[in-house]
Amino acid sequence: MPALKILITGGSGLLGQYLNTVLVKQNQILTLYNQHPGNCKNYNSLQIDLTDYKKFNLLFAQFNPDVVVHTAAFTSPVIPDGVSTKEIYKINVNAALNIARQCEKVGCKLIYLSTDLVYAGYRGSMLKEDAKLIPASLYAETKLVAEEKIKETFDNYIILRTALMIGFGLNHSKCHFHQMYNNLKEGKRVKLFQDQYRTPLSLIDAARLMNEIIPLDIKSETINFGGKTRISRTELGELVCNITGFNKNLIDSVPLSSVTQIPQVADVSMNTDKLQSFGITPLGIEEAVNALLTDYNAG
Ligand SMILES: NC(=O)c1ccc[n+]([C@@H]2O[C@H](COP(=O)([O-])OP(=O)(O)OC[C@H]3O[C@@H](n4cnc5c(N)ncnc54)[C@H](OP(=O)(O)O)[C@@H]3O)[C@@H](O)[C@H]2O)c1
Repeated sequence: MPALKILITGGSGLLGQYLNTVLVKQNQILTLYNQHPGNCKNYNSLQIDLTDYKKFNLLFAQFNPDVVVHTAAFTSPVIPDGVSTKEIYKINVNAALNIARQCEKVGCKLIYLSTDLVYAGYRGSMLKEDAKLIPASLYAETKLVAEEKIKETFDNYIILRTALMIGFGLNHSKCHFHQMYNNLKEGKRVKLFQDQYRTPLSLIDAARLMNEIIPLDIKSETINFGGKTRISRTELGELVCNITGFNKNLIDSVPLSSVTQIPQVADVSMNTDKLQSFGITPLGIEEAVNALLTDYNAG
């Protein structure tokens, strides 16, 4: 198969930097960053604010991609002071719509990274794609509105409702798993929710699976993109301790209700049968965490 031209947005993000390292091997990539270059500078990359539609459209026309992997977004479920709803809509909804429109014009495939947080988080476990959608945060709401805008625009899309990603952030990027690991390693206490369940996806696995999804002839599909195992935050911490030998007594297992500042999403664990029906098989959690730790310790 000839190399595909892949445009990666959010190439400097937690996932984007992993995508850069994997997708570059067999494809021609252009990876985009905004405020933090991350590892983008090691690849064919450009700085751009995706809400500058004129600039983006020009860049898009020049690169003329076969596939766009759109990961860029405002990603925090908690809105920091000084950030307005309008700004979040602009990047998470309007920029996604603009990208879909550019893809539609030239027959380019769009892979859109949505989130497990679009599901109603109190409904129980292992949700299928047709489960009730009730986003509990502005972030999740904008991701869901973007899904709808993309679907209204054209057919050549894959929406990946992505699970909580775990692993080790490259360069400036950080995630909860990485912070938890560092704290446990340094002998510091960590608070982990005993009653919040997800089907976490490792960053390494997410990039590997994306590489497998991109060439598939899939259109107009919304697919859960998560790991195989439903697990609480506490259980995940304990698993890390079991594998590394870190002290499990450092874990304070607390209920979700003990932290009121975050959206109370108890369980958005996802069923991945549909993903697997396309021949895409995520790892179980033990295998995924083992692979993350091996990779991290190998430097
Ligand atoms: N992380 C998770 O656990 C998780 C779970 C479910 C779904 N997702 C989804 O997966 C995708 C990737 O998540 P992530 O954790 O990798 O995100 P992230 O680390 O927060 O990175 C966000 C990326 O978006 C870029 N960006 C933000 N505003 C931009 C703008 N105006 N113009 C251009 N680029 C902009 C950032 O660029 P700069 O940093 O260079 O400014 C960065 O590369 C997101 O769409 C997210 O909604 C993530």
